[in-house]
Parts: sequence; structure tokens; C-alpha cells
Amino acid sequence: MQNLDAVKTKWLEAVAAAASAAALEEVRVKALGKSGEVSALMKGLGALSPDERREAGAKLNAVKDAVAAAIEARKAALQDAELDERLKTERVDVTLPARPEPEGRLHPISQTIDEIVAIFGSMGFRVAEGPDIEDDFHNFTALNIPPEHPARQMHDTFYVQGADGTGGPGGKLLRTHTSPVQIRTMKESKPPIRIIAPGRTYRVDSDMTHSPMFHQVEGLVVDETTHMGHLKGCLIEFCRAYFGVPDLKLRFRPSFFPFTEPSAEVDIGCSRKGGELKIGVGDDWLEILGCGMVHPKVLELSGIDPARYQGFAFGMGIERIAMLKYGIPDLRTFYEADLRWLKHYGFLPLDVPSMTSGLTR
Ligand code: PHE
Repeated sequence: MQNLDAVKTKWLEAVAAAASAAALEEVRVKALGKSGEVSALMKGLGALSPDERREAGAKLNAVKDAVAAAIEARKAALQDAELDERLKTERVDVTLPARPEPEGRLHPISQTIDEIVAIFGSMGFRVAEGPDIEDDFHNFTALNIPPEHPARQMHDTFYVQGADGTGGPGGKLLRTHTSPVQIRTMKESKPPIRIIAPGRTYRVDSDMTHSPMFHQVEGLVVDETTHMGHLKGCLIEFCRAYFGVPDLKLRFRPSFFPFTEPSAEVDIGCSRKGGELKIGVGDDWLEILGCGMVHPKVLELSGIDPARYQGFAFGMGIERIAMLKYGIPDLRTFYEADLRWLKHYGFLPLDVPSMTSGLTR
């Protein structure tokens, strides 16, 4: 039998010289593989006498074990080296400055709409839309607002064009509320209906607390068993989530709207002590929205059988609840496009409001 020490040395050197996993595998096959040198030597043992065989067999096994152990060790070393190399190239310099904050800000109106959508979205509402330029039917008639109703008078409504060129029945106007979206939704879809409709609204009015263009969000639910309890539960839930006050007090005060019966206005609990308004504490009340059960006539005019279905609706001023939540004192500043104001009251565009991540910064 040839010099096993030389065989061992040769393969150990080959293992040490293997510079990659592939090269090492090649060495393993040539040394220990089925037709490798060590295996061939093993086969040769059969030709020896029993005594010689025992001695040579033991030596050969030792060689085999030594080479196998060397291969394993080399493999681990190569993997370590490879990892080191990767870590070096993928290294992150934690001393680099953080990504700069984006310059732009979301307008508080956009932020408030996103928050409203997140809350009602989690209750199963979808968002519906209607045109800003409405017709008389959807804005008034279908909402059970008779022609002599004061809301129809010129000082309230911007008329765009009428059948007679001055407005009136058949004419176009800028919608004075988001309620016409109720009509459009009921005409387009079948109950169960659960929508909110945020959007722009217009009235001929301009002072400290009124802007000729402002925003509302409408809500409408129509189903076979909808009742006043659902209306109350839904609005209580919304106000508490929106203002972030879990035990916020709400008061439903009887009121009148031509398109709901019964109708109510909702006040939230607040304090005005020392001239400072605080939501959720104190014994004062602050009106924030109008609501009621959809009037049977409105259901009928929208093609829904009032004997089978009931609904509730609500409408809320978005500027108003944004001012209350974010402490914005003057309505007019919303539309001044003052970048300093926006920087102060605006929101980071990537902080998307949701019910799980929190609604505000
Ligand atoms: N449209 C009413 C308004 O502008 C609000 C409202 C909506 C009231 C829906 C009741 C139901 O004042």
C-alpha cells in the first residue's frame, strides 16, 4: 500500500487551498467521493492479508476522517468569510443624517376628511360623491324642501343658471349642502345603504364664521330595521373616536329639517371657563351636527319603498369640527393659502390616519 501520510498531506493541502465552496466540493469528490482516491484505496484493502488489512484499514480510516474533518472546518471558514464580505457591503452608516422631513403639508380639511373616512370606514360605510353644481330637484325638491322654503331664497343659494336664466325650478345651482348625495345614492343603489359623502358646499354668506364655500360630510343609512337607536349609537361612536374622548357626552336636541322626521341637532359636552373652549369636560354644550330619520317622502321620491325601508341621515360641517379639534380660531384662514399657517396647522402627508395607528400626530 502506498504512503498514506503522503495521501493525507496532499488532500489536506488541497482542502486548505480551496478558495470557494465549489472548489471545496470538487476536492471532496476527488478525495472521498465514490470514485475518489480514498475510496479506491479502501477497495484495494481486499487484496491484502488479514493482518496487513487491519493495520492499513485503520490508517486509511484515520486519513479519511482527517480529510472529512478538514473539509467541514474549511466549509465553515468559507461561510464565515462570505458572511463577513456581505456584511461589509451591506453596511449601513447609522451616523448619516435622517431623511429630511418633506416640505409639503396636508391641509387640515384634507386631514379631517381622512379621519372621518377612517372612522366611518371602520363601521362599514363607503364614500359616495355627487356634483358641486346641482340641480334644483336634488338640492331641494327631492329633499322635501317646498318652493317657499327660506333656504331657496337668493340670499342663501348661488344660482348658476335657471330655466328662465335666473334660477328656480329646473335651474342649476351650487349645492347648499351635501344632502343631495343622499338622493343620488338612493336612486343609484338598493338598500342596505351605508354611505358618507364629504365634499364642498356653497352659500351666499361671508363673515368671521361663514365662508361662501365650505365643506360638509353627509351620512346615510337605509335598511329594513334602521331606527333612531342606530342613529344615536353611530354618532356617539363617531364623536368619541374623532375627538379622542372615550366618555364624551352627547345631547340629541329635537330640531327641524324638511328631509328628516323626527329631526335632531347634536351637541357635545364642553367647557367655556375663562373664555377657553375645552371639548369633553364641563357642563356646557356645543352644537356640531344635524340629523334625523329620513322623511318617508324623501325615500319615496328616491324610489325606495317607505313601507319597507327606514333610514337615518346626518350632516356635519367639516371646518367646524376641524377648528374644534385642532384649535384653529378663525375660519377665514383655511382659504388664505398662507404657507406659514399650513406649516403650523398642516399634517405630514405620510401620517395616514387610521383606527389602529391613531387618528392624529
Ligand atoms: N343638510 C343639513 C344642513 O345643511 C344637515 C342635515 C343632513 C340634517 C342630514 C339632517 C340630516 O344643515
